Amino acid sequence: MCGIFGIVYAERPRRNLGEILRRALERLEYRGYDSAGVAVIDKGLVVRKDAGKVAEVAARYGFDALQGIAGLAHTRWATHGKPDQTNAHPHTDCRGVIAVVHNGIIENYAELKEELVKKGHVFRSETDTEVVAHLVEEYKRQGLDTFAAFKKAVSRIRGAYAIALIDAENPQVIYFARNLSPLIIGVGDGFNIVASDIPTVLDHTRRVIAVRDGEYGYITPTEVYIEADGVPQDAASRIEEIPWSAEMATKGGYPHFMLKEIYEQPESLASTVAGLDWRTLEAVANALLSARNIYVVAAGSSHHAGLVLAHLLLRLKITPIPIVASEYAAYENLFDREDVAIAISQSGETIDTIKAVRALRERGVKVAAVTNVVGSTLSRESDLVIYTRAGPEIGVAATKTFTTQVATLAALYVSALKTLGYDTAPHERELKTLPDMARKTVEATAGTAKDLAKRLKKAASAYYLGRGSAVPVAMEGALKLKEVAYIHAEAYPAGESKHGPIALVEEGFPTIFIFSDPATREKTLSNVAEMKARGAYTIGTVPARSDMAKKLDMPIEVPDAGELTAPILHVIPLQLLAYFTAVERGYDPDRPRNLAKTVTVE
Ligand code: F6R
Repeated sequence: MCGIFGIVYAERPRRNLGEILRRALERLEYRGYDSAGVAVIDKGLVVRKDAGKVAEVAARYGFDALQGIAGLAHTRWATHGKPDQTNAHPHTDCRGVIAVVHNGIIENYAELKEELVKKGHVFRSETDTEVVAHLVEEYKRQGLDTFAAFKKAVSRIRGAYAIALIDAENPQVIYFARNLSPLIIGVGDGFNIVASDIPTVLDHTRRVIAVRDGEYGYITPTEVYIEADGVPQDAASRIEEIPWSAEMATKGGYPHFMLKEIYEQPESLASTVAGLDWRTLEAVANALLSARNIYVVAAGSSHHAGLVLAHLLLRLKITPIPIVASEYAAYENLFDREDVAIAISQSGETIDTIKAVRALRERGVKVAAVTNVVGSTLSRESDLVIYTRAGPEIGVAATKTFTTQVATLAALYVSALKTLGYDTAPHERELKTLPDMARKTVEATAGTAKDLAKRLKKAASAYYLGRGSAVPVAMEGALKLKEVAYIHAEAYPAGESKHGPIALVEEGFPTIFIFSDPATREKTLSNVAEMKARGAYTIGTVPARSDMAKKLDMPIEVPDAGELTAPILHVIPLQLLAYFTAVERGYDPDRPRNLAKTVTVE
């Protein structure tokens, strides 16, 4: 969704403040790119904003030339009001003294706006956010100081928000508040920062505090003050040192983050496998084995990772119930204190997943989280946490966070096997080979994926088919193609394709088969023959040096692997195929239209 950033310095004025804000916007752009804007306090408040990508807006309005003591920046993913200049953030009060940036949705903004309009406030935008600037103005007008006015304003709003606000009449302070939308504080030396995420502060500091729901406060160049329900919180004890470097959040010579992140998978899998917390995995496995029902809750790619886990657990005759997070309400009545849930979210901030976790825990369900972000809402609100170690993922499409999730969930399966008394040494060895196998897969498949993209770019539609544990891999492949290359793609269990989908197949229709599940390969080959007979152009991820390659028009050979690692290796060429097809079609795979990296609205 939207991205926010605010920085306040001790020196006055900071000559390169505009450049710092522009850089932060470039980092935040993956969270939304309908419009961009900045506000700085120099002699007074200066606001520059417009619809468009960060680079265009920043160049057009000379962001780099701005200087000042404190500044705010915002990239927008529109929820209320079309993406244009007036609706772009920051928003200001009537006098142009207060500026505010916001990520989330203020649900009761219409009634607040009506109340403020009656008091004479003049609104310029159609956004929900603007009410915050006017509320603070109103309470200041009634005699409160800025922080008291801000607190009162925050107490009036309902919904999801991460807010940062500056007041030119109180220039060395940034006020902030959080409910549901992510917000962190970057703790610096002679400056402090508020931001939507960790990668945005890495240029300046690695010391971070995660702001919790219901908290608000302010930062000055030398102080971080946090309060909840009127009670001051101990901010200093919550500072965490983040093990990510600024370099990890740059493109490092690749044309796009998505490609870089695909190529980083051997490394991120190596960190994840080496860093597996077997003790917590064992605790989660024990909980799973004694649970009445097991729910696997997640959205998007994380849901697909959950489906891979579900397939693995079925082998142990454990029958997990995978739930698309936004659908949790349909299952709520089932939730019981004897149940266990696995919640998967790379960001740890997806609102659908957080809401589902809250509903589960309210009914006494024990929740184990799998997330990539230390200190994220999900990590804080779960009973047990297993971290993936993918490093920061900036490309909107999940790639390395997906494969590290699958690797972590495979380790959970191994832990369950061990608890049940099986010899897991071969599985543990298999997991250790994963980084090397992933490297070989990227190297072996990139060329074919690039060539295939030249053909696929002309397609209007494609099928992704597999059986057993290859079905979630097919779903992930189809999602990647849809979201970055804008080609309609559907995944089906291969056998199900005969029950309707095959009607669409005509000469040249691209059908991509996934052969990651060794137990179902024979049967999947029959589906290849059926599709070919109807003129389909058959593509398939097949184990290297197998006969299967001969059955396909275009095989993509993947190093042969065991049952745990195959879903991870087979998804890599599908990520590459989606990436190269997007580039062939002239799209920016890092910033697909209508999408945002972290979905913090329901
Ligand atoms: C797809 C994608 C999304 C996310 C989904 C959940 O490439 O990135 O479908 O997987 O929004 O996000 P997290 O894992 O952060 O909860």
